[in-house]
Amino acid sequence: MGTEIRKMVLKDLPEIIKMEKELFTAPWSEYMFLEEINNHYAYILVNKGNKEIIGYVCGLKLFDELSITNLAVKKEFQRCGFGEKLIKSIIKKLLEEKCFKFFLEVRESNQPAIKLYEKFGFEQIGIQVNYYNNPVENAVMMKLNL
Ligand SMILES: CC(C)(COP(=O)(O)OP(=O)(O)OC[C@H]1O[C@@H](n2cnc3c(N)ncnc32)[C@H](O)[C@@H]1OP(=O)(O)O)[C@@H](O)C(=O)NCCC(=O)NCCS
Repeated sequence: MGTEIRKMVLKDLPEIIKMEKELFTAPWSEYMFLEEINNHYAYILVNKGNKEIIGYVCGLKLFDELSITNLAVKKEFQRCGFGEKLIKSIIKKLLEEKCFKFFLEVRESNQPAIKLYEKFGFEQIGIQVNYYNNPVENAVMMKLNL
C-alpha cells in the first residue's frame, strides 16, 4: 500500500478522535489535538489511494528536545511497519531542525510500544509512579540522543 505523511489538519479530527477511543483507555480529547495542530508537531500517515488515515504521531518541542506525546496506528494496520514509519519521519523532520534529543513516556505494560522505541535506540531512564489513569499505571520514561 502506498502511503504518505502530512501535517494533521482540523478535518482529520473526527477520524482521529474515533481512533483514540478505540486504541486508548484514556483517550485524548479534541481540545488536546487542537493544541497539537496549532502549536506543536502533529503528523498523520494516510493511504495514498483512498486517503484513509492509518496512524498519527504528535510531538512537543522544547528548546533542543522533542517530547513524543502521542503515537497510534489503526488496529487493522498494526504490525505492518507503520508505527516505525511515523517515528522515523518525525525524527527525520526534527534532525533537519537541528533537534537531536527525543523523550517520551509510555505505559509500563505497553510492550509493543516499548519494543518499537527500543528499536530506534530509546533507553529507559526512569519510572514515574502512578503517572497514568484509567487504569492507574507507572510510566516508563525513555530518551534517545542522536
Ligand atoms: C505501538 C504501535 C504504535 C506500534 O505500531 P505498529 O505499526 O504496529 O508497529 P510496527 O509494525 O511499525 O512495528 C515496529 C516494531 O515495534 C515492535 N512491535 C510492534 N508491535 C509489537 C507487538 N505487538 N509485540 C511486540 N513488539 C511489537 C517490534 O519491535 C516491531 O519491529 P519488528 O516488526 O521488526 O518486530 C501500535 O501498536 C499502536 O497504535 N498501539 C496502540 C496505541 C499505543 O499504544 N501507542 C503508543 C503510546 S506510547
